[in-house]
Amino acid sequence: MKKIALTGIKPTGTPHIGNYLGAIKPALELAKNYDARYFIADYHALNSVKDPKLLKELTYEIAATWLAFGLDTKEVLFYRQSDIPEIFELTTFISAFTSKGLMNRAHAYKAVVANNKENNKEDDHNVNIGLFTYPVLMAADILMFDTNVVPVGKDQKQHIEIAADIAQSVNFNYKKDLLIVPEPLINKDTPLIPGLDGRKMSKSYNNVISPFLPTKKLRKLVMKIKTNSQGIEEVKNPDECNVFALYKLFASQSEQNDLRKQYEAGGMGWGNAKQTLFEKLEDVFAKNRENYNNIISDKAEIDRQLKEGALKAREISSSVMQRLRNGAGL
Ligand code: ADP
Ligand code: TRP
Repeated sequence: MKKIALTGIKPTGTPHIGNYLGAIKPALELAKNYDARYFIADYHALNSVKDPKLLKELTYEIAATWLAFGLDTKEVLFYRQSDIPEIFELTTFISAFTSKGLMNRAHAYKAVVANNKENNKEDDHNVNIGLFTYPVLMAADILMFDTNVVPVGKDQKQHIEIAADIAQSVNFNYKKDLLIVPEPLINKDTPLIPGLDGRKMSKSYNNVISPFLPTKKLRKLVMKIKTNSQGIEEVKNPDECNVFALYKLFASQSEQNDLRKQYEAGGMGWGNAKQTLFEKLEDVFAKNRENYNNIISDKAEIDRQLKEGALKAREISSSVMQRLRNGAGL
């Protein structure tokens, strides 16, 4: 029996190359050796996306992105979170086993509180209960499907640990392994992908590059990447440069060496380095972009695939929920 791997992405923005390299690509790799369950975390997105048209559109974008990069729905269970009502029942169930203190210590909530303090606002300004209990819903996503490993970026490690804590509390209480205790699977080889401004690429920083932009827009964005103000003739340090950091993620060793030499020889302007990166991105994503455009133009087909996935997923979720109800005397 293969181990079970599960992960989700929130439809809160157009997917970017940080999502691809940090989450989608390693997850698709993993699906070769695991029983994979990948979903669109649309109820998580509801905390911040309140415009129905936008939420729908972003959901299709995430779905089409997975499919464009080769997710095969015959191999991977692929569904929308909101199509699985048992997840929300499980959320209520495990809430009874989750201490409030655990939520107080969760990074996402702490970050908002810290930010409020800095701006002289009340601690819980702009915090809805959905944000506060976000890790409980995420734990339900994971525990619902008997997950063994959760491939995620470093930033999500704490959430998986919370899910593991909750599973242990349930099992301890009933003296039975009612829930599988999950582990994070953090790919140490995946660096944090820098964005246009050098900070972590993130839709919250508005510094992202989408892999499926049309050529002109992609080039325009790449030209916006922040560099220092060194002139053309100056010798440059590739190891302190965003453009090179991004190039390294896609270029072969010999291509990297070539560009490195140009940095170190002087006489190379930033426009030149950016053009090299742009051409690389165009090349690397050409086929996926074509796939993406085909897939996103047939939303009924995306819906069909997600519904079919949900039907299969619910066979699992309803049986796990029944196991818990039986175990708890409900
Ligand atoms: P964002 O920061 O844009 O809101 P999410 O938090 O929705 O992105 O991330 C979805 C997935 O993509 C997570 O597994 C996360 O770890 C990964 N990810 C996001 N940004 C990056 C990045 N810059 N580098 C590596 N992985 C990333
Ligand atoms: N919290 C994750 C993120 O921000 C998304 C997510 C929701 C998730 N539920 C999950 C990831 C379950 C892995 C497993 O990226």
